[in-house]
Amino acid sequence: MSRVAHPAGPLHGDVLPADHPPAPPADLNALPAAIWPRGARRSDDGVLTLAGTDVRELAGQFGTPLYVCDEQDVRSRCRDYMEAFGPEARVFYAAKAFCSRAVLRWVSAEGLGVDVCTGGELEIALSAGVPPEQITMHGNNKTQDELAGAIAAGIGHIVADSFAEIARLSYLTDGATHHPNVLVRVTTGVEAHTHEFMATAHDDQKFGFSLASGAADEAVRRVLASPGLAFAGLHSHIGSQIFDTAGFEVAAHRVVELAVRIRDEHGVEIAELDLGGGFGIAYTEEDDAPEIKDIAQSLRQIVDWQCRGAGLAVPRLTIEPGRGIVGPSMVTLYTVGTIKDVDGLRTYVSVDGGMSDNIRTALYDASYECALASRSSSAPPMLSRVVGRHCESGDIVVRNAYLPADLATGDLLAVPATGAYCRSMASNYNHVPRPAVVAVRTGADPAVIVRRETLDDLLKLDVG
Ligand SMILES: Cc1ncc(COP(=O)(O)O)c(C=O)c1O
Repeated sequence: MSRVAHPAGPLHGDVLPADHPPAPPADLNALPAAIWPRGARRSDDGVLTLAGTDVRELAGQFGTPLYVCDEQDVRSRCRDYMEAFGPEARVFYAAKAFCSRAVLRWVSAEGLGVDVCTGGELEIALSAGVPPEQITMHGNNKTQDELAGAIAAGIGHIVADSFAEIARLSYLTDGATHHPNVLVRVTTGVEAHTHEFMATAHDDQKFGFSLASGAADEAVRRVLASPGLAFAGLHSHIGSQIFDTAGFEVAAHRVVELAVRIRDEHGVEIAELDLGGGFGIAYTEEDDAPEIKDIAQSLRQIVDWQCRGAGLAVPRLTIEPGRGIVGPSMVTLYTVGTIKDVDGLRTYVSVDGGMSDNIRTALYDASYECALASRSSSAPPMLSRVVGRHCESGDIVVRNAYLPADLATGDLLAVPATGAYCRSMASNYNHVPRPAVVAVRTGADPAVIVRRETLDDLLKLDVG
């Protein structure tokens, strides 16, 4: 696709991306299990219910746009990961996907640790009551204050990401009695088959220490030479929304090779191996996400084989899923505003949110599906583009959606699989307050877990 500016006119035909909308689904009212929360159903009168709650009631009580989070769905996915990886491994929820006290309490109660990457996420985790030793801190530019705070809180692991950071950690722990466990983040040179901005282990990027250049070996030397630091092991995260397990396997293989070099050079065996997150989920019916138990089995096998082959004790394995825990558990509800036909092309359906509550379509060209939620319909499918209310033509929520042709202003639309990197990446673009997050649970009243921002909140920030 050309990204070069050009005059409007017939040339458009040459420069617009080749966009081949998928065929319409057989049933516009269907809720495919792979992309909807486990508690999503249609009631007898065709209304979408989430954990038994009618979405019209949710919209009426809490307004739209609204993120609705199915608590039992989150908890069941935590259990899926724990069972798949087994009791000898550790599962840490990557809070960057969605960080709120309620969700961190649920995942912690299910036995997961929590992975944070800023002082803000750390604060939420600590205030949710997550045990400090069950917290790992990442980040490529943690400040001195953030590192000092993490050390003072006694968190379980800090992931070192640069030589400057190792120097800061050494300085902060000089003469201290508590020696924080440090993992060295390694960039393995693996090209994860995902969007460029979600791939994190090829060499030309900002995270970690390169294996190829020898920086990773040097980082381990410096951590081991720092008396205040306890070298715990290695960390690798190759990217996000990965479907192909081959990338994880190559990364694990290369990290274990480094572990062998560390043993040979220093006589130290790594105790821990953190293989990061990135396990892909289905956003549309076309996405065929791998089963987590298959990924778990192949990862465990490769680490076992590699270590045994090299005569190394098998380190404790940690993984850090974010999207895989919370992504499919949330749905965003919108109210339909204007409906505009662009003759011969498609219908533009404008909703009351957009890129401020879901930037992923604009940022990553992500694909979503959506459904009419406040009723069912037997009208024929209408090729639509669901767009937001912001002053950007890239403000697209769902690029290609088939919605019933009788769609009307005031109908509710639901977009599934919006739990990860939507609320956590939300903005106030165009001074739009960020939506609330409401938790639903079978047999319980819906509960606000993150309140809706108000115009008053925005005005209070503007102190000029
Ligand atoms: C170090 C690290 N761990 C875990 C994750 C979680 O990834 P995902 O939500 O795709 O599972 C990320 C995401 O960016 C990450 O950077």
